[in-house]
Amino acid sequence: MSSETAPSGFRQVLRDDALAGRRILVTGGGTGLGRAMAERFLGLGARVMICGRRSEVLERAAAEMGTLSTHPVETFPVDLRDAGRVEALFETAFADGEGPDTLINNAAANFVARSETLSHRALDAIIDTSLKGALYCTSAFGKRRLAAQAPGTVLSIITSYAWHGSPYVVPSAIAKAGLLTMTRSLAQEWGPRGIRFVALSPGAFPTKGAWERLVPRPELARRHETGNLTGRPGDPAELAELAAFLISDAAAYIHGECVTIDGGRWLKGVGTFGHLGALDEEDWTAMR
Ligand code: HXC
Repeated sequence: MSSETAPSGFRQVLRDDALAGRRILVTGGGTGLGRAMAERFLGLGARVMICGRRSEVLERAAAEMGTLSTHPVETFPVDLRDAGRVEALFETAFADGEGPDTLINNAAANFVARSETLSHRALDAIIDTSLKGALYCTSAFGKRRLAAQAPGTVLSIITSYAWHGSPYVVPSAIAKAGLLTMTRSLAQEWGPRGIRFVALSPGAFPTKGAWERLVPRPELARRHETGNLTGRPGDPAELAELAAFLISDAAAYIHGECVTIDGGRWLKGVGTFGHLGALDEEDWTAMR
């Protein structure tokens, strides 16, 4: 879905130079929401690096995004579960003395399953990518920025079940809760030394990678996408605009905070008297 087709009324509002001069590494930047963010950052003047497991996917994405910037999109094939390879990625990215100043922890692994059926390898597949992979990246990024006494920004993609939990995606919920705690903890530890941490909590943003793994039947997709206070799914362009704002200088005073962008999904039905929406005029008159 794009901003042209979404019935959201969304339009981009950030200035064209909002991220000029910035160097941003997006994990999982070759597909889905990572790609949507990478494209927007390019459009706002940033240099962009993307990493992911499949080099052909990264190369194609970089070529397609090439028209958006005079700077080529750099690609780093890496499996984030491999701490040694993550370290090598950052060694390469920082080799020219101009490594990324911003890290987007976007890459995640997830699938729906009854928890009692999960093997230890299944647990590892999700936790190792979604939590440990992000930790490896944040550590490799942060220690280099701190050593150089240079400022930095880390944006991590969480989701609301980091707070309230969720059945059938328990390892992912644990991983996202960990990522949220990392955001708040490192904000306190590294914030005073110039590294700013923020997070985003998206609701239903249909992407091929997520929907293939998380939505077993079309009618369930519709329920998932419309079950919020707006009655529609999110547009990746909306998420990308918010991400760009959060990492920009305009958000310099937002620190250790997670912003939810879910159309009010997690609030829907939570209000104690929300069921009174079923009352008709006659009921309200009688109540009065
Ligand atoms: C039960 C499963 C399973 C399933 C895999 N496994 N899929 N178990 N149900 N549906 C088990 C396997 O049997 C194996 O255990 C172990 O997990 C590892 O599986 P592999 O296929 O060997 O691993 P791998 O090839 O590394 O694949 C990892 C993956 C895959 C997580 C399974 O889906 C992946 O790479 N995904 C990355 C992209 C992604 O997931 N995007 C969605 C993120 S969306 P055994 O014991 O058999 O060896 C997201 C948003 C959430 O997070 C918020 C929504 C609102």
